[in-house]
Amino acid sequence: MVATWKLWLSLFSVCSLLCTAVTQLQLEPLNSAVLQGSDARFNAIVQGSWDIMTWNVGGHLVLTVRSPSEIISSENYNATFCSSGQGACVEFTIFNVSRTQAGPVVCSVQGSYIPQIAQLSVQDSGTVSITGGNVTVMKDQQVEFQCVTTGWFPIPSVSWNQNGQAVNSSLYNTTSMAEGDFFNSTSVLKIRAVSNTKVECTVTLPSLKTPQSSSVFMVIVPNPPDWTVLISVVVSFGGFALLVLLILGIIFCYKRRKEKKPNYQDEMRKVRAESLNNAPEHQKGQVNLSYVPDNQIKVTPNVLQENGQNNLKTPGVNNTAGESGFMKHRHLTIV
Ligand SMILES: *[C@@H]1O[C@H](CO)[C@@H](O)[C@H](O)[C@H]1NC(C)=O
Ligand SMILES: *[C@@H]1O[C@H](CO)[C@@H](O)[C@H](O)[C@H]1NC(C)=O
Ligand SMILES: *[C@@H]1O[C@H](CO)[C@@H](O)[C@H](O)[C@H]1NC(C)=O
Ligand SMILES: *[C@@H]1O[C@H](CO)[C@@H](O)[C@H](O)[C@H]1NC(C)=O
Ligand SMILES: *[C@@H]1O[C@H](CO)[C@@H](O)[C@H](O)[C@H]1NC(C)=O
Ligand SMILES: *[C@@H]1O[C@H](CO)[C@@H](O)[C@H](O)[C@H]1NC(C)=O
Repeated sequence: MVATWKLWLSLFSVCSLLCTAVTQLQLEPLNSAVLQGSDARFNAIVQGSWDIMTWNVGGHLVLTVRSPSEIISSENYNATFCSSGQGACVEFTIFNVSRTQAGPVVCSVQGSYIPQIAQLSVQDSGTVSITGGNVTVMKDQQVEFQCVTTGWFPIPSVSWNQNGQAVNSSLYNTTSMAEGDFFNSTSVLKIRAVSNTKVECTVTLPSLKTPQSSSVFMVIVPNPPDWTVLISVVVSFGGFALLVLLILGIIFCYKRRKEKKPNYQDEMRKVRAESLNNAPEHQKGQVNLSYVPDNQIKVTPNVLQENGQNNLKTPGVNNTAGESGFMKHRHLTIV
């Protein structure tokens, strides 16, 4: 009884081992992104005994492996046997991959194996450049950089670095547009100029081992002097100087006037003194008073009118009028 029970147990364990081994086909990687023109590789690991393995790309049978070692390949496809601890290993290679080969890569093994499907994506790297080159800016100025990428597939991821430090993505915007089978992108970075910086635009794809980049230098120049301050300083100083000059001028003029006034009076005194000395001659002049008004008549129209009236009145009778006229003449000579 015990012997038969042990026999059944061993039979079951053998069967379970065989059963699991028979259906095992592994494919890796299940997703592969490669650059156009490079090679794509997939590994198939088969457990259990098998005879024929086939590979389909783009719906076409491209390679057949016949166990244990025969490989029937077509152009741009080949396979080699690799080592694996778990079973037979076949490395399938697509050389010089093109975009038309993108899609499912199917590995099938004849028998009760479930076909395995991997996804192949073929990418293209184009060019990248920061337009405008090096820039010279003033401190605290808002600076805009533009990074242009052309001929990429699919849309690449664009990022920016400042002196090797990643720039916060809230500081840039990237837009892309299709150009045939490719994409062009434009990324705009807006930053404030703080210090001399190396600004770098980095573009990458999953298939790209080393990202492409373009960099420029941002050089800060010192701010020019604040002209408004300078101008206000000059203006206020100038205004002050003008004010001082004005005050000085007023004081000077005032002093000169004060000095002149006594001089004038002195001269007047001199004149009077002279007139006293030459009394006889002057008396003659005074006698000539009647002549002086003639000059005055010519000068002042007011006097002319009055004189005219006087002249008209004198022939009449009025002595008083004549006297008053005389008085006026006298007054005028004094002035
Ligand atoms: C495929 O690879 C094998 C082993 O490396 C090589 O001998 C064979 O010539 C290759 N076939 C083609 C068509 O390249
Ligand atoms: C790769 O394939 C392209 C066409 O898809 C062809 O023009 C080119 O010459 C090929 N390169 C090599 C190295 O075979
Ligand atoms: C930008 O500046 C760097 C360093 O000063 C210099 O090596 C590079 O040639 C400059 N590039 C251009 C486009 O002027
Ligand atoms: C990026 O900037 C935003 C808004 O200015 C801020 O909330 C966020 O924390 C920043 N991220 C990093 C990594 O600095
Ligand atoms: C990015 O675009 C959004 C919407 O158009 C705008 O609000 C934001 O200011 C832009 N940011 C930069 C850094 O240009
Ligand atoms: C993409 O870039 C190329 C090269 O600079 C240019 O000729 C083409 O017009 C661009 N296409 C679009 C849609 O911007």
